[in-house]
Amino acid sequence: ALLGIDIGTSGCKALLIGTDGAVIAADTATYPLAQPRPGWTEQDPELWIEGARKAVAGALVKAPGVDILCVGLSGQMHGLTPLDAGHRVLRPAILWNDQRNSAECEALAKAAGGSEGLLAATNNRMLVGYTGGKILWMRNHEPELFARMTLMLNPKDYLRLRLTGEVASEVSDASGTGLFDVRRRQWAKGLIETAGIDPALLPPVFESQEVTGRISAKGAALFGLPEGVPVAGGGGDSVIQTIGSGVIAPGELQTTIGTAGILAAALDVPQDNPDGKLQVFCNVAPDKWHCMGVSLNAGGAMGWFRDTLCADVSFDQLVAEAAESPAGARGLLFLPYLNGERCPHPDPLARGAFVGLTARHQRGDMTRALMEGVVHAFIDMHALMQPMGIAGRVVKASGGGARSALWRQIQADMFGCDVVTTEGAAEGAAFGAALVAGVAAGVWPDATTAARSCRDLTCDVPDPAASVVYARAHQIYRSLYPVLSDRFA
Ligand code: XUL
Repeated sequence: ALLGIDIGTSGCKALLIGTDGAVIAADTATYPLAQPRPGWTEQDPELWIEGARKAVAGALVKAPGVDILCVGLSGQMHGLTPLDAGHRVLRPAILWNDQRNSAECEALAKAAGGSEGLLAATNNRMLVGYTGGKILWMRNHEPELFARMTLMLNPKDYLRLRLTGEVASEVSDASGTGLFDVRRRQWAKGLIETAGIDPALLPPVFESQEVTGRISAKGAALFGLPEGVPVAGGGGDSVIQTIGSGVIAPGELQTTIGTAGILAAALDVPQDNPDGKLQVFCNVAPDKWHCMGVSLNAGGAMGWFRDTLCADVSFDQLVAEAAESPAGARGLLFLPYLNGERCPHPDPLARGAFVGLTARHQRGDMTRALMEGVVHAFIDMHALMQPMGIAGRVVKASGGGARSALWRQIQADMFGCDVVTTEGAAEGAAFGAALVAGVAAGVWPDATTAARSCRDLTCDVPDPAASVVYARAHQIYRSLYPVLSDRFA
């Protein structure tokens, strides 16, 4: 069997799959997120270790006697885990959704010759939340701790250190530091020098499917896993879950409706990132790259709507009401930018809106408009991808939102193609991590073959009449942000 371990933001999942790609057992252990100040998000790395211990033990109990060939790691991207010379954690990790470092990102961009300089060096802008800006924040705000820092690791790579004793990262998480030359799959030496960052702080980088070490005696005792089992590089969660959903070839798109919304595709070449509005990273497949847009408000917008306006109503009932409203929600549109936006509008001050309300609109129309607004945001991101040649002939839907038949149908109608859910997509990033472990162990010859082992669960086909309604609605949706953006208070 293959073991995938995913260090998520809200918990750790351990997943065992067979060499045929079928799920054997899984377990999850949750942990909290600290928000010590507005806009700050942190986690004590010990929570990840405790979570991984519990989840691994829980999965193993359900599969007694299972023989583990290889372990694959995945985790929340961009998190900074600062370590001292004895590999002790210096402060709580600063997470991907932390907003504290915009001044550092701006200063770095200026030093690098603007966003063109950053794009030339890494094919990405330095977005708030990326690891690079956090290193600079520590230098500016916590100089004493910074002086003791000899190494920084992303979350899953800290777990690797505790499992194997090895210091290593891999290309997909390294991409999310904003300090990695994604085209050449190596650290962006010039930019790191410009930033004044000591290159020794950064771990050696492997390809995702390379073996980076073996479970040590200490790791075996801590996690209850057999000593000597190889551990593969793995990948950042939003990159590795794409292969886990079976998305690897041109024409395949992945949508994720979790708290945030992610639209992702695999690329055969490291195409230029238009204006740096998308995220172009190294794929876990060594001959491929990964392109994604992240919208900050998807399932989270739905949660806000329910909790704020109708806390006594279940999601199922809300969605049932929405299904009674016709495509286009009787002319009602929703802009989902409730917490600002990352893509396609990199604007922390963007705000949400219902546009076109009349007295005849019911709650079901509002819920439907909200669900449609989240998918309009995907279509907007796809419009940035289309000039790069990224087509959508099939959408693989994942995240909590993929469990809703209505939300899948809206996606099929707006994208105008089949929307499929897969066994892997339902398991999240841990499934991708297990597949990559399988490639490292030689179970599959390459990542493309591994991605193909993913079984389809459901398929929703587009309704041409609804597609026409949505195409018209999308033109109006797109016109709203430009006229409203300077009016948001
Ligand atoms: C990706 C991103 C998130 C985190 C969350 O750029 O910010 O998907 O990886 O887990």
